[in-house]
Amino acid sequence: MSEDINRGWSADTYGERHGFEGDWRDDWWNADFLDLMARRWRLDAVTCALDVGCGVGHWGQLLAPRCAPGVELHGLDHEGGFRIPAEERAARRELTFTFHEATGDALPFADASFDLVTCQTVLMHVPDPVAVLAEMRRVVRPGGLVVASEPNNLANALVESLAAPRLPFEETLELLRFQESLHRGKIALGRGDNSVGERLPARFAEAGLVELAVVSNDRCPALVPPYVDAAQKRDIAQQLRFLDEAASGWGAKEDVRELHRAAGGTPAAFDRGWASLAAHHERFREAVAAGTYAGARGITQYLVSGRRGPR
Ligand SMILES: C[S@@+](CC[C@H](N)C(=O)[O-])C[C@H]1O[C@@H](n2cnc3c(N)ncnc32)[C@H](O)[C@@H]1O
Repeated sequence: MSEDINRGWSADTYGERHGFEGDWRDDWWNADFLDLMARRWRLDAVTCALDVGCGVGHWGQLLAPRCAPGVELHGLDHEGGFRIPAEERAARRELTFTFHEATGDALPFADASFDLVTCQTVLMHVPDPVAVLAEMRRVVRPGGLVVASEPNNLANALVESLAAPRLPFEETLELLRFQESLHRGKIALGRGDNSVGERLPARFAEAGLVELAVVSNDRCPALVPPYVDAAQKRDIAQQLRFLDEAASGWGAKEDVRELHRAAGGTPAAFDRGWASLAAHHERFREAVAAGTYAGARGITQYLVSGRRGPR
């Protein structure tokens, strides 16, 4: 395992910063929407599937019950520390699951090994999504399906800033400017693009995939006081954990400074952006405690799919 893996964070720290604990990541999806997608994708014919960058297994393990009975699910991650939690999670769901420690741009499988090859919030973290997609295409059988679930997190930051209590527009602009520099810093450092979803259909075409289709997740993680249902409670707990541990998934302050600098940001601009982000987080915390935070929070999460052609 290279030192660079997941920026040197331990598997536990990485998991905390990405909400791997419990079912919060599964709450991103409506079950009946996934049933619809399973029909469109004809998952009932999938007998062997691969989840690339599986983490502790949330995404592949959501799709597996919608595949053929007895489907063999494989999960692959470059962080071996996710092996045991992913295996335990699969066992609780009575799934046939095998974990592989490897990187997405060098998949350790023969050509045409799977009916379905998929990933979720992984291509946003790699420097060259086409290299990973080309490998995903190689290991899926001719006619088989490749699906990626990836966000546009700049759009998401905008939506988030429009929830109630609504910010003065200048503050929204300041937050967006800061978020955009962090996006650009991440790209400049070769760590991926948090809004890769926007560019993914073109990347699928470059990787040689055909029959492309793009849909967006239909679930809005709405927060409506007094936040009674279980998913809202889980979401609030997770959002507060993000605020405690990091700056909205970007990492701790020094990590964020590094991204900002890589985008050419000045120290003064960083201080301004950091202050506006911190104030935004504090407002969220206070509004949730007071029961005044409310928003539909439509999250832009694309499902991009394509098939490997006949040869
Ligand atoms: C944000 S997590 C998503 C985990 C999982 N797909 C989910 O949705 O719950 C990104 C995952 O991709 C893995 N990852 C990132 N870059 C990778 C690469 N080049 N090869 C393999 N795994 C990678 C990370 O270790 C992490 O588990």
